[in-house]
Amino acid sequence: MRNISLTLLLLSTLLSADITRGQAVYKSNCAMCHTIDGRSGLGPDFNMVSYTRTNAQIAHYAKDPYAMYRSFGYDANAMPTLPLTDQEIEDVADYIGSLVKFKKWMIKKEK
Ligand code: HEC
Repeated sequence: MRNISLTLLLLSTLLSADITRGQAVYKSNCAMCHTIDGRSGLGPDFNMVSYTRTNAQIAHYAKDPYAMYRSFGYDANAMPTLPLTDQEIEDVADYIGSLVKFKKWMIKKEK
């Protein structure tokens, strides 16, 4: 029993560390084009994206937008391919995926 709690504690620490690192990646590489609070930027708001895409899809797009834009329904690709490591891409995708829980609160506030 104690082992299970320890594993869970360790796991949640690891996961939140990813999201914290992902938030830092977001702030320095994505925030100039993507909002997280429902406003509009050059790219779509990430709170919406966290609803409509899986973390894996988000990671694919961040890694190679040019290869992905057609399958995501865009006619053109304005997002640059950013010089990020695979780890940074995983972290930022986890961060964006985690935003979903704030959406309901956001909608309530808008009304
Ligand atoms: C220079 C502006 C710019 C920056 C910086 C940028 N994006 Fe984008 N992004 C866009 C635009 C514009 C689109 C719309 C499609 C396109 O033009 O490729 C987009 C689309 C996306 C999509 C697809 C959304 C969907 O579901 O349709 C994802 C995912 C995404 N960006 C992730 C990221 C991540 C992660 C970062 C940071 C690591 C980032 N973007 C940085 C401009 C940007």
